[in-house]
Amino acid sequence: MAAGGGGGGGGGRGGSCFVLGASGETGRALLRELLSRRLFARVAAIGRRRLSLGGESAAALEQVVVDFERLSEHAAAFQGHDVGFCCLGTTRAKAGRAGFIRVDRDYVAQAAELARAGGCKHFILQSSQGANEHSYYLYLRVKGEVENLVQAVGFDRCTILRPAVLLCTRQESRPAEWIAQQFLSLVARVFPTAYSVPVETVARAMVASVLKPGGGKVEVLENKAIHELGKAVPQQGTE
Ligand SMILES: NC(=O)c1ccc[n+]([C@@H]2O[C@H](COP(=O)([O-])OP(=O)(O)OC[C@H]3O[C@@H](n4cnc5c(N)ncnc54)[C@H](OP(=O)(O)O)[C@@H]3O)[C@@H](O)[C@H]2O)c1
Repeated sequence: MAAGGGGGGGGGRGGSCFVLGASGETGRALLRELLSRRLFARVAAIGRRRLSLGGESAAALEQVVVDFERLSEHAAAFQGHDVGFCCLGTTRAKAGRAGFIRVDRDYVAQAAELARAGGCKHFILQSSQGANEHSYYLYLRVKGEVENLVQAVGFDRCTILRPAVLLCTRQESRPAEWIAQQFLSLVARVFPTAYSVPVETVARAMVASVLKPGGGKVEVLENKAIHELGKAVPQQGTE
């Protein structure tokens, strides 16, 4: 796929982007894609801690450490980016109910507001399959709420990805997720796009959404569409 102007998003070669959640499983896969493809002249990881990267990646990446509880004091970090990618998130098990809502909804919505004020045209949000503001389940309800809040910010383009269970070799121990991943890896041989998606595919779909012409002001990509879009950019090493 040829790099273009980002279909109204202002992305593509030469622009600037930031990544939230770059230390996470999807975020790391996304950083690898962005840095190796050199789609942007400037790539910034905005997070609560510095990443330890070596070699070329370290030189190519700008790192900005922020306090998410005082995000408004870090408006400068969000200045001048064409595209914003958000892979931020925690779990209720890790952060508790209030902490989960704070991170997955409030931090994301505040960051989106700051990004828009800083000139960001295209915001790409990693949400979840089943996101629904009316859901009985907290996780899906919060994902639905954050989708609505981000849409309301009024980006020229907003791409929302709703992946099913993420397949990855997770650094953090999450036993229930690990069991689901083992089972779903087998299921994926029969139904490859239904119940799971590798984080590398999500990352490639995020990149592809920047490169392809805009599918409207707001575009929601369900799991199958993520698989399809992820195939639209060649895997690294096959170009
Ligand atoms: N797991 C699944 O199967 C699944 C399925 C569908 C959708 N999703 C959603 O997809 C998104 C990405 O998932 P993932 O598994 O790739 O993420 P992950 O590996 O859990 O990484 C989450 C990222 O968010 C950051 N973060 C967490 N708590 C934070 C806090 N209090 N303050 C600042 N940063 C914080 C982490 O930073 P640190 O490294 O500093 O902690 C990390 O960069 C999440 O929103 C998740 O809900 C997950």
